[in-house]
Amino acid sequence: MKERTFRQDHLLGIEHLSVDDIETILETAEAFIEVSSRDVKKVPALKGKTVVNLFFENSTRTRSSFEIAAKRLSADLINFNSSVSSLKKGETLKDTVLTLEAMNPHIIVIRHSASGSPHYLTTFARSSIVNAGDGFHEHPTQALLDALTIQIGPPSLVPVEFEKLGATVSYDMRGGVKNADVVMMLRVQAERGASNYFPSIREYRNRFAISRELFALASKRAILMHPGPINRDVEIETSMADSEQSVILQQVTNGIAVRMAVLYLLKGEVHETLN
Ligand code: CP
Repeated sequence: MKERTFRQDHLLGIEHLSVDDIETILETAEAFIEVSSRDVKKVPALKGKTVVNLFFENSTRTRSSFEIAAKRLSADLINFNSSVSSLKKGETLKDTVLTLEAMNPHIIVIRHSASGSPHYLTTFARSSIVNAGDGFHEHPTQALLDALTIQIGPPSLVPVEFEKLGATVSYDMRGGVKNADVVMMLRVQAERGASNYFPSIREYRNRFAISRELFALASKRAILMHPGPINRDVEIETSMADSEQSVILQQVTNGIAVRMAVLYLLKGEVHETLN
């Protein structure tokens, strides 16, 4: 394991990370993939540290992944459940976080529907803040685990076009999917009103759902990604979600390694058992 070179106090988004930061996280995550393949999936890198999972929105993947990541690093973990907390008695977000901070945690992982809420916490909290999804804004560990899943080996396999960092926008699924190496579908976020932007689910499915026929246009070794949770037969047909080309569950597995890397790089100690 490399010496820790990550110099961020928080992980609030991808936007302000340098290429070096991103590479450090992905390299560290790769090392943690090995840790997760051991019989005893535990290293002492965060022994004595406390992580608070502060989720104000529903989550299966991100919440349990941060929990497993923290435990595999030997941290103590508190799962804060907003639905049974004193928020229900009118306590503010700031007072809730100040109260938890009085218990001296080291890292607070927050998911909240309000964009910018993790940034707000950094204005008064002492802990490192990790954004686990802030509404319409960012979900940085999802982006990082997606990158880890897409990373396909030696640089010679990566098209030079990647370096240009330009994107082509297409509104035609056939044109967009044609010859693609990675097809990533995103969830229709009905809870944020996404279904108000098109006439009906049926029309959306007919025009945009990834089907076998559509995916056949992609490159021969293309992978199909989705951050989850999936709306089966809305943005992705069931047969494709469960197909050999789907790496959706691999994304979940990689999520643990990426979140271990983030927690470790924020507060971990280099320890020889990681080497
Ligand atoms: N991808 C993702 O954020 O899933 P959860 O909402 O289950 O955490």
